[in-house]
Amino acid sequence: MTIDVETRPVAGGLKDLTRRSARLELDGIDFASFADRPLDADTLRCLRYMHDVENHTMCYLRDVLVTRAHRDPEVTAFLACWCYEEHWHGDALAQVLEAHGEPSSGERVASMRRQLSRRDSLRPLIFGLGSAFSEHMVAIHMAWGAVNEWTTQAGYGRLAARAEHPVLSELLHRIMKQEGRHIDFYASQARQRLSQSPGAQRFARFALRRLWAPVGSGVMPKAEVSFLSTHLFADPGGLQTARRVDRGVDRLPGLSGLHLLEGAVTRYATEALAA
Ligand SMILES: [Fe+2]
Ligand SMILES: [Fe+2]
Repeated sequence: MTIDVETRPVAGGLKDLTRRSARLELDGIDFASFADRPLDADTLRCLRYMHDVENHTMCYLRDVLVTRAHRDPEVTAFLACWCYEEHWHGDALAQVLEAHGEPSSGERVASMRRQLSRRDSLRPLIFGLGSAFSEHMVAIHMAWGAVNEWTTQAGYGRLAARAEHPVLSELLHRIMKQEGRHIDFYASQARQRLSQSPGAQRFARFALRRLWAPVGSGVMPKAEVSFLSTHLFADPGGLQTARRVDRGVDRLPGLSGLHLLEGAVTRYATEALAA
């Protein structure tokens, strides 16, 4: 599957996207087959990360809803479906971990949430205040969401390519298809909102350049973020994919030349070599 980095309008409109929203289809995914052909340790390490971050979506939603995003019915309709679909991505990855005798779902999620920092509790306050003082917060959220969905989809694609396991590949490609619809919405919203406001473009560019880091880096240990980024994107194929994602970001109004993913991967790879 190719990585979708086009900022095309939502195919069939938002109604079509929300009405097609569904729990991830798992028919034909033979989780029991992992007993005969288990995944390698590096792939499982990436899957633990992806499981935890997919299961953190509700907490990300908490931060979005304290902004003016909750006043926009198109955005809230999408977010309802987005959060539901991401939940089932997390559940599917949990089944892969379970098949390898690893803790997953509630057990892992509860443990992760117990370790969240005090700073995490302040996020709704920070986002709420940001939204009260700036009309551009929703545009920034949409641009940020597009970048995160692009990188997530690319990460799944890279993991499928690196793991070379037919059952995992099929599962990840099904997840990637739904991530593609998330991309359509976020990128389309970001394009529309940014094109209407040079101020939103400046603010989004500043926020992404100064604050963006790979999805999950706010809640996952730095060693895990570094491992995932370098395992998936630091080899020639990975860098090619990272540049393709960055070219997608380039096409959003006011956001060209940020090189977000390639920059992050290069930083982590350099740090790993120096360690
Ligand atoms: Fe997902
Ligand atoms: Fe997604």
